[in-house]
Amino acid sequence: MNLDPPASALAYQSGFGNEFSSEALPGALPIGQNSPQKVPYGLYAELLSGTAFTMARSESRRTWMYRIKPSANHPAFIKLERQLAGGVLGAVTPNRLRWNPLPVPEEPTDFIDGLVAMVANSSPEKPAGISIYNYRANTSMQRVFFDADGELLLVPEHGRLRIATELGCLDLEPLEIAVIPRGMKFRIELLDPSARGYVAENHGAPLRLPDLGPIGSNGLANPRDFLAPVACYEDVQQSTRLVQKFLGELWGCELDHSPLNVVAWHGNNVPYKYDLRRFNTLGTVSFDHPDPSIFTVLTSPTSVPGLANLDFVIFPPRWMVAENTFRPPWFHRNLMNEYMGLIQGSYDAKAEGFLPGEASLHSCMSAHGPDAETCTKAIAADLQPSKIDNTMAFMFETSQVLRPSRFALECPQLQTSYDACWASLPATFNPNRR
Ligand SMILES: [Fe+2]
Repeated sequence: MNLDPPASALAYQSGFGNEFSSEALPGALPIGQNSPQKVPYGLYAELLSGTAFTMARSESRRTWMYRIKPSANHPAFIKLERQLAGGVLGAVTPNRLRWNPLPVPEEPTDFIDGLVAMVANSSPEKPAGISIYNYRANTSMQRVFFDADGELLLVPEHGRLRIATELGCLDLEPLEIAVIPRGMKFRIELLDPSARGYVAENHGAPLRLPDLGPIGSNGLANPRDFLAPVACYEDVQQSTRLVQKFLGELWGCELDHSPLNVVAWHGNNVPYKYDLRRFNTLGTVSFDHPDPSIFTVLTSPTSVPGLANLDFVIFPPRWMVAENTFRPPWFHRNLMNEYMGLIQGSYDAKAEGFLPGEASLHSCMSAHGPDAETCTKAIAADLQPSKIDNTMAFMFETSQVLRPSRFALECPQLQTSYDACWASLPATFNPNRR
């Protein structure tokens, strides 16, 4: 069923939060109004609201679509027998946890079947919190999916993806990320034999760029580097399975057409992608280093100013120049809860045991920091300007405690000796030597 999009559909529109617009046929987009009596080409007008109608204009997300058939044209959804792996939460633990990479299954597995819930801090009924998944796939989706429970932030670690959405296509590779709005229909096709990565499902306010404060008007992730798709539609009348996730459960129905049938659209509730290599990394040029919030790419705020429902933070290649400074991430205990992953290379706080595809969880007030080997080396280092290269770690940071799924607590990938990496930190205190 999957159609190769025309070359003209693999183009992008640049910007963040803009009122984008696109039409795959000339004149398909109504001018001057959203819902005319007769839409050009006999299309139907349909509104997708990503925020409540009455949100402040600066917060409002909505897109008008002009489509061959409206989304309402579907039979009843029936709960699927095969539900998401890891969907049941396990016991709460204050312990630091770390997982080896989950293998890609041998049997045919598409993006939905390969989603595994790892941790979550909210029931999807609440308009707040996040759930975090790993995905593994070796087969393109032959069905179309939408998530009624939240916005999806995809962080590929291995394998290129084509995300065919209602608004057009996004081609994605490791070191790029994509965000798909809540409720937007999409199909993930594999451009390589297999794929693996991380997903944050954001149940709260949509992700946006962080404010820059004294940094000024440039820096970190710049708006022009975010890319939205252009319109691309499938005019096919054949049986298509549509699956949705609703309050944590998968439901499906059969359509007699492709739901990726939007010929023109305009709005700011759009899927988008961003190349993490374009992040303008800022840091100290004197001593110490700033809090890791200086590496925030996107944030989902709560109603408390400065307290994030979700911060997406990266640790990109960067120069280290701080004088008289302990250069690795310092030891700390955090109000926030940190779920980390690694996309490529190694992470500068871990001398061993943190590979691409791995994940770690440091919950509220759990003590962590560089492992013993990294720490000892950092204290003894002859400090010269040096570059940390070939690395891209990231963090999903959230204000509510993340509870592991039963799968995450029972899978063989859970490392049993994670605490040991801090066990050999030597006591170097000597009251007679200042
Ligand atoms: Fe931390």
